[in-house]
Amino acid sequence: MSKNWTPDSWRSKPIRQVPEYADQAELEKIEAELGICPPLVFAGEARRLTSQLGQVAEGKAFLLQGGDCAESFGEFHPDNIRDTFRVLLQMSVAMTFAAACPVIKVGRMAGQFAKPRSSGFETVDGVELPSYRGDSINGLEFTTESRIPDPKRMLKAYSQSASTLNLLRAFAQGGYANLHKVHQWNLEFVHNSSAAEKYADMASRIDEALGFMRACGVDADARELSGTDFYTSHEALLLWYEQALTRVDSTTGEWYDTSGHMLWVGDRTRILDEAHIEFLSGIGNPLGVKVGPTTDMDDLIRILDKLNPQNEAGRITLICRMGADLLEEKLPAVIRRIVQEGCQVVWSSDPMHGNTIKSSTGFKTRPFEQVLAEIRRFFRVHRSEGTYAGGVHVEMTGQDVTECTGGAEAITDEKLADRYRTFCDPRLNASQSLELAFLIAESLKEERQALELQVQTETAQM
Ligand code: PEP
Ligand code: CO
Repeated sequence: MSKNWTPDSWRSKPIRQVPEYADQAELEKIEAELGICPPLVFAGEARRLTSQLGQVAEGKAFLLQGGDCAESFGEFHPDNIRDTFRVLLQMSVAMTFAAACPVIKVGRMAGQFAKPRSSGFETVDGVELPSYRGDSINGLEFTTESRIPDPKRMLKAYSQSASTLNLLRAFAQGGYANLHKVHQWNLEFVHNSSAAEKYADMASRIDEALGFMRACGVDADARELSGTDFYTSHEALLLWYEQALTRVDSTTGEWYDTSGHMLWVGDRTRILDEAHIEFLSGIGNPLGVKVGPTTDMDDLIRILDKLNPQNEAGRITLICRMGADLLEEKLPAVIRRIVQEGCQVVWSSDPMHGNTIKSSTGFKTRPFEQVLAEIRRFFRVHRSEGTYAGGVHVEMTGQDVTECTGGAEAITDEKLADRYRTFCDPRLNASQSLELAFLIAESLKEERQALELQVQTETAQM
């Protein structure tokens, strides 16, 4: 952290993608209220995540990060939280089982309420209104009233995050995530998709393995099997909210943003001398940095110097979102430069944000084939560059929505209207998420076998 950093030092820098609040006194009142709200996460948890991400950077674990594009007040329901959590668990088990690789689970949950937008205004039938910026800022409803930024929304976002996190902690440690329940997680799948079948088959093999362990006298009820670590993350966009939850950790004297375990900076606000990078540079949490196809590499290196001056492994995850068509052209140069500079990073793939299109029926969608293609190419490029493809970052839900075309159910442009429920970008539904997880599991298995082979060859040559 630079000597001059303070939780509010971002305020003297240029800032973009945030609302202009009309009533400053009201804003300050809300900031003060938030400032005395209890922290949502503890610094020690954030440090634990950094250290686990350090394992990912070394090729010893895999990062699975996923959840809604935007959480919303309207869709707040315990079943929605459970379903997303459950699919993340299923995805993670599929990867761990196939590749014998620990998976670090991080939800885009319990705080993902503020959105950067490509345009400040939206026009519908000739009427122009300010864009929707996420439920912590304004409302989705297309009326003048609803689009006015209201600082009180930050309090509601905090309270919803607190309840969501409370339930996630209960699910993770209270018995729901027990590996002996691996079959039950699959029961509520409405469609008998091929991914669900594949999952059922894998679950039976896991059951067998657990039975075998128990028969051998291994403790099959060990803590590692009866619960799991689960972390939260969101884009650190609305800096008044983030600052209000930034507190000194009494055990180290360092600042942590206690609104979530991991925070990331978006592709549009990742600018060296601006507010968002300034803010993130001073907090101790692990950080994600989105890397799109237009990223200037000199800038990125300077940003990494500022965010991670000690070059600590696990501190930075580069979340690459090139788009399937540009990935092979753009990613190799990014990797080579990062390797050449010796920067410690986790390489994660966001196969969603570079593959958004408008369907023939007018919906914002993502062809599932393009999402899979980006992931395949991500693994392939890392393999040929000799680096480790360490994670995935997806917009997904446990609900049976129709937002991305394709997949086993072959969702067409015409079917998108059936259950299109997202507040912002289109998400993978439960079976598409699981299908993606199986593809990653296979790629990860090959990647790790190749790594092992490389280590064996090097050892033999020594
Ligand atoms: C997001 O992850 O929701 C997002 C807006 O991504 P990006 O900054 O990569 O466009
Ligand atoms: Co999005």
